[in-house]
Order: sequence, then structure tokens, then C-alpha cells
Amino acid sequence: MTNTENVQKVLVTGATGTVGRQVVAELLARGASVRALTRDPAKADFPAEVEVVRGDLTDPASLAPALEGVEAAHLIVFGEGYAPLDTGEEIVALAAKAGVRRLTVLHGGGESPLEDAVRGNGLGLRWTVLMPVEFMANALGWADGIRSHGRIEEPYADRLSSMVHEADIGAVAAVALLDEARDARHHGRAYVITGPDVLTLHDKVRVIGAARGEPVGLVELTEGQAVERMRAAGMPQETIDFMLYVYGNTPVEGRTVATTVQDVTRRPARTFEEWAADHAAAFRTKQQGKRAQEK
Ligand SMILES: NC(=O)c1ccc[n+]([C@@H]2O[C@H](COP(=O)([O-])OP(=O)(O)OC[C@H]3O[C@@H](n4cnc5c(N)ncnc54)[C@H](OP(=O)(O)O)[C@@H]3O)[C@@H](O)[C@H]2O)c1
Repeated sequence: MTNTENVQKVLVTGATGTVGRQVVAELLARGASVRALTRDPAKADFPAEVEVVRGDLTDPASLAPALEGVEAAHLIVFGEGYAPLDTGEEIVALAAKAGVRRLTVLHGGGESPLEDAVRGNGLGLRWTVLMPVEFMANALGWADGIRSHGRIEEPYADRLSSMVHEADIGAVAAVALLDEARDARHHGRAYVITGPDVLTLHDKVRVIGAARGEPVGLVELTEGQAVERMRAAGMPQETIDFMLYVYGNTPVEGRTVATTVQDVTRRPARTFEEWAADHAAAFRTKQQGKRAQEK
């Protein structure tokens, strides 16, 4: 974009995270000017054109400089340890005061005072809630096991998931934030964002195996074995209960394909094959990586 007057400045919170990084990339790809918020700018690693600012969502006063001159902002609803933020009202008020016109909010799966504050804002701020299903990036949690043992060990191998590529969450966010059509199409909407396919764990290991060039095994754990593993990994009981509940009772949106990505971005949702190709290196040992490069 050459006309700088038309360049929109967007603040991205959670910018160093799985989704936020993609929101940043998709905004840049659409010619926006991006300001990325982090509690620790020294650790952040962004393209040179990104303006990095320090701020903490639990301390709204720290956000005032970050919101200056910004037309739209992407918000997360949690702080450290995914604790729901209770500073939503202040953040929304600060955003409105700074002249922000549009917000996207990454839904956190549970009750969220921040999301409520955005949805109920009487300050004229347009908003879109992003409700992605399971992230494809969760498969990176298998990378160590696949590199060292060539397999994954999981309960509920037939569980279904319409998992979504994080880049597509970023793309939907970017379109809603930039509002290229200058209309209210995305305002007041809660978008369920999914990938293009419904996959079982059998499908996922097959796809990862094909991407890395060597098959991946799947050992199905009983629920008892899965609980033992999660406890040994230090997972709190509440999280263990939640995980098992979701595995055994995946909500219908989590195992159904929605057309949101195509409808909003005018591009087909990225497949797990594409995701696995992008991340194949994470699932290969050094030796396998060398062999793949020689091919
Ligand atoms: N995984 C899934 O399958 C899935 C599916 C649907 C929804 N979700 C939801 O997605 C969310 C997680 O997103 P993610 O994976 O992108 O996060 P993530 O990769 O874990 O990144 C966490 C981000 O939060 C920022 N952060 C934490 N506390 C902060 C604070 N007090 N002030 C400012 N920034 C703070 C961190 O920034 P700095 O450290 O740089 O400050 C970092 O950018 C959760 O709400 C989860 O419920 C996940």
C-alpha cells in the first residue's frame, strides 16, 4: 500500500502467542500497520515493520500509550495461566477514549468479563468475537513423542475434530479488524472458525506421517492411563477433567465444518495437510530432516 493515509493502525494483544502471531502476519499481509503488545519486548521476535510496545492487560493504565492512534484492536480475554481478565470494562473504556473503532476478541471457552464488556459496550465500538475450534497447533504437543518414539499415545482415538489452522483465525481477525468493505458486516458477530475437514486421531497421525516422510504410530490409551499421564505431567485435576470431558463429548461445533473462513476471507480454509507441511520439521529427527533435505 503506498497511500499512507489509508494505512490502518491495529493493536494486537497476545501478539507473541499462537493466534496473535498469525493475526500480526495476516494484518501485515493486508498492508496494515501493526503495533504488537507484550509484557516483555526484549523477548519478542517480530518482523522489523512491527512496532512493539510494552503493556499488561491486568494493568489497564499500562495500555494507554499502546492504544494511542489505533483504529482497531485484537484482544485476548486472559492473563497469566489463562486466568480470565477482570479489567475488560477499563480496557474497553480506554480503547473508546483513544478513538478505537473496531475490536476482535479471541473467545476463551468460558465465562469472560472482558468479552462481556466488549459485547455490551455502549460506546459505539464495533466488535467481532472469534470462536475457533481446536487449533491445529495443538498437534505440536506430539512432536517430542513422535521424534523420539515415532508414535503418539492418546485416549479416544476416534474422537472427531474440525481443527483449524491458526493462520485462518488470524485471517478472519484481520478482515474483521480492517473492515475493508467499510460496512458493519462483521459487527456483533460471533464467528465459529473451523478447518475444512473433520478428522480423527487416526487421520491426524496419517497426515503427519506423510508430511515428515515416515509413518507415525497411534497407541490408544484407556481413560485411566490418560489420567495417570496427565497427573504425572503436573496437570491440575480441573484441567484433566475438562480434557477428558471434551475428548469424550466434543461439542457439535468442534466436530462440524463451518464456512466462516471462506465466507469472511474469500479463501478456502487451510487443510491439516497444509499445516503439517508447514510444520514437518518439528516432527523429524535431525537424521530424518537431513534425509528429507537430500530428496
Ligand atoms: N488451543 C486450542 O485448541 C484452543 C481452541 C480454542 C480457543 N482457545 C483459546 O485460545 C487462547 C490461547 O491463545 P494462544 O494459544 O494464542 O495463547 P498463547 O500462545 O498461550 O499465548 C499467550 C499470550 O498471552 C499474552 N499474555 C498473557 N498474559 C498477559 C497479560 N497479563 N497482559 C498481556 N498479555 C498477556 C502473552 O503475551 P506476552 O507473554 O508476550 O506478554 C502471549 O502472547 C485461550 O483463551 C484458549 O482458551 C484455544
